[in-house]
Amino acid sequence: MTMQAAILESPGIENVRVRAIPMPTAGPGTALVRMRAASLNYRDLVVVNGGFGSRQKQSGLVLLSDGAGEIVELGEGVCEFNIGDRVASCFYEDWAGGRPTAARLATALAAGRDGIACEYRALAATGIMRVPDHLSWIEAATLPCSALTAWSAVVAHGATKAGETIVTQGSGGVSLFAAQFALACGARLISTSSSEAKLARLKEIGAHELINYRAEPEWGRRARALSGEGADLVIDIGGRATLKQSMLALRPGGTVALIGAVSGQRASLNLGAAVANSIRLQGIAVGHRESYAEMMRAVSFHKIRPVTDEVFPLADIQAALRFLASGQHVGKVCIEI
Ligand SMILES: NC(=O)c1ccc[n+]([C@@H]2O[C@H](COP(=O)([O-])OP(=O)(O)OC[C@H]3O[C@@H](n4cnc5c(N)ncnc54)[C@H](OP(=O)(O)O)[C@@H]3O)[C@@H](O)[C@H]2O)c1
Repeated sequence: MTMQAAILESPGIENVRVRAIPMPTAGPGTALVRMRAASLNYRDLVVVNGGFGSRQKQSGLVLLSDGAGEIVELGEGVCEFNIGDRVASCFYEDWAGGRPTAARLATALAAGRDGIACEYRALAATGIMRVPDHLSWIEAATLPCSALTAWSAVVAHGATKAGETIVTQGSGGVSLFAAQFALACGARLISTSSSEAKLARLKEIGAHELINYRAEPEWGRRARALSGEGADLVIDIGGRATLKQSMLALRPGGTVALIGAVSGQRASLNLGAAVANSIRLQGIAVGHRESYAEMMRAVSFHKIRPVTDEVFPLADIQAALRFLASGQHVGKVCIEI
């Protein structure tokens, strides 16, 4: 028996092929999931271009870490799930809780091991999570990486309280979830973006203050002024072009959640300002399963609806990757399987 899967044959979007590969079965400790939807992350563009070097499977990698589907077969020893359960993948197939270790971080999907862009995937029981009933397959497929990363920054590490100020950057997947979680915590939200049209979407989502970072390259001081003493937390997804402004936006004792580097990995840091203002720089590596369960509870209770953009069929995954790379999207770019 075979199934369709999106495979990276060699680096480059043009070398992603949707083709038949053998269908898996549920081995001990795993559940066979009929994948129904997937979503793309910026990281998938890095993987497709071979950016993880020797840390990614060198040939025949099944792409994408984030997906949702229903359990169709249970392997020996799996007792916490039932056939028919609606589940999403965990970004790390085996990081139940506790601190990050090299071994746990190495269990990320769609780099060193296969991802979920396929019709059936046998996943460890530690690598799946039931999804809230109010979400469609497409919406549920957006949660594993960007939502949990945002949750880790805003809630697990950030411990955000009502009335605090959070700054988000841009209108991509992580930033929109961070905005939604910040609002659910009762925080004041300042959002930046590159265009007025995208800022209008951020306003609809509930942002209290908006800054166009193209029109206002020194947006950090403006964000600090808007929040009075300065922001409590900045969600930094920009890296090189944003770290300085993120620090300027903060109050003394505030935190920059170091999440991404869409503008470049190497950033200079004003150590004097960081030390004198007791700034905390908090690196985030998605998050573990225990946090994921807490996040699912909050998504369910607050009936949070992920913001989705274009949905492509699996056969058009190259077009989906190109659309993500173009930066036109707001929220998540998705795949129907
Ligand atoms: N550490 C982790 O665990 C973790 C997890 C997930 C993602 N990440 C990283 O986080 C970053 C974002 O990921 P994503 O999946 O959310 O990406 P995404 O959906 O592709 O969104 C990226 C967004 O960044 C904004 N942007 C581009 N240049 C910018 C700049 N100079 N300043 C501010 N914003 C800028 C754009 O929004 P506008 O056009 O609205 O400005 C763009 O839509 C990536 O670097 C990714 O690798 C890290």
